[in-house]
Amino acid sequence: MKCNLCDYENKENEHYCVNCGKNLSSQIEKTDFLFGISSFLKIISIFSLILVCPGVYLFESISRLDNFSSNSNITLVFAIVSIAILFFSIFIKAIAKDMCIKNIKKEKEMKTIEQINIDNKKVILRVDYNVPIKDGKVIDNNRIKQSLDTIKYLKDHNAKIILLSHLGKVKTEEDKEKNTLLPVKTELEHLLNETIEFSTELKGSALEEKINKLKPKEIILLENTRHMDYPNKLESNCDKELSSYWASLGEIYILDAFGSAHRAHASTYGISEYLPHAIGFLIEKEIKELNNIKDKEKTIILGGAKVSDKIGVIKNLLPTSNKILIGGAMCGTFLKSQNINVGKTFVEEEKIEEVKDLLKTNKIILPIDVITENGTKEIEKITDEESILDVGPKTIEKFKQNLTGETLVLMNGTLGLYENPKYENGTKEIFKYLETNKIDTIVCGGDTGNATKKYNFAPYYLSTGGGASLEYLEGKELPSLKIMEKMENKNE
Ligand code: 3PG
Repeated sequence: MKCNLCDYENKENEHYCVNCGKNLSSQIEKTDFLFGISSFLKIISIFSLILVCPGVYLFESISRLDNFSSNSNITLVFAIVSIAILFFSIFIKAIAKDMCIKNIKKEKEMKTIEQINIDNKKVILRVDYNVPIKDGKVIDNNRIKQSLDTIKYLKDHNAKIILLSHLGKVKTEEDKEKNTLLPVKTELEHLLNETIEFSTELKGSALEEKINKLKPKEIILLENTRHMDYPNKLESNCDKELSSYWASLGEIYILDAFGSAHRAHASTYGISEYLPHAIGFLIEKEIKELNNIKDKEKTIILGGAKVSDKIGVIKNLLPTSNKILIGGAMCGTFLKSQNINVGKTFVEEEKIEEVKDLLKTNKIILPIDVITENGTKEIEKITDEESILDVGPKTIEKFKQNLTGETLVLMNGTLGLYENPKYENGTKEIFKYLETNKIDTIVCGGDTGNATKKYNFAPYYLSTGGGASLEYLEGKELPSLKIMEKMENKNE
């Protein structure tokens, strides 16, 4: 199908122009009507200029041979009208193109909760309550707290709120019992200071009855959506029947689970196909903050175990970063690429060449000393039996020097195994430096978030996304956000 905006020849089954993104769906848009009129007028004017005008001229010339020059007036009128029609057709096409461009921009922006009518509606709200739980209690309620603005907004609009979330992975029957959202229900009740309904059922008449009994402002939390993953992985495989069933429970779908936006599951992606939808306040905030740091000049601090998780972020953000400071076990792969023995530290051999290329940029700062099982070691002196467990004091100083004068920092991953006091110094000292020097720090990743709490470090922004933030910073499209852009308005 030819796109009438950019003339690109798309395959028949495309819904959006592959070249410019214009909606090609069969429904006739206002702009298509304008494009039609413009083409029609253009054909008429060209036909008139090429055939009608010379014809009139000839006809008049033959019939009034005695007064040849006076004929040109009628021909001139025809010619002027034809040219005017031609210009008019060009003008209409320009308007249609402009409208198309505006529509495309609109389609690419997701609708927010404030742009959708939720008054008195049954609203399905997908949150990410995949939070750490110990002895039946939520031990980090940040994700739950971050969902409260959207919940309160829904309540203010008299919506009946149906909460969906996953928790952990469910691969066996026993996993279902281990991964129940009941502790989350208790925590949410505590934060909201009210009781909420809970459904152990994820399908069926008992669940439907509970939902039908909801009054405006009331909340029901459904059990872990991944209970539907055993035995048939219905949630994670985005089963169509399950998606449409869950959609049938509500009238509007709001996605606010930023931490799960990189998952195309039934509850994060599938439901969007069946209901009018929008994003909640948390996703709006996450996107704003992460876009902000993507574009601005900054220094990045990376830690954690795997290079492969972070290499995309490094590549994508390298042009806008002053320096990238690498700690954690992942520095092992970088050091190994420089032929340094890192002992038993986990190394991703297949990443060595990529890492070597990155080091050519001179923006990457590696440790010069580390803490191993045997204490502080210069990196050249690490033995085969040792592993890198934290950065050493000289490295901490080097990192601080590289942070001097910096106003913005992105941090993902801790610099050592901070859970063990022997290996917490790197992370702790760098937090202290960032705080003392009032450097705005955006922290991503659950583990780094936990460390901020442990050391009372208050970052400028703490993202609720782990994998999702990394993928976003890598420049990847998050599927559950992408479908929100594409499906915009379809269900209204
Ligand atoms: C997270 O904690 O990163 C999100 O909740 C996604 O969880 P998942 O990796 O189990 O899909």
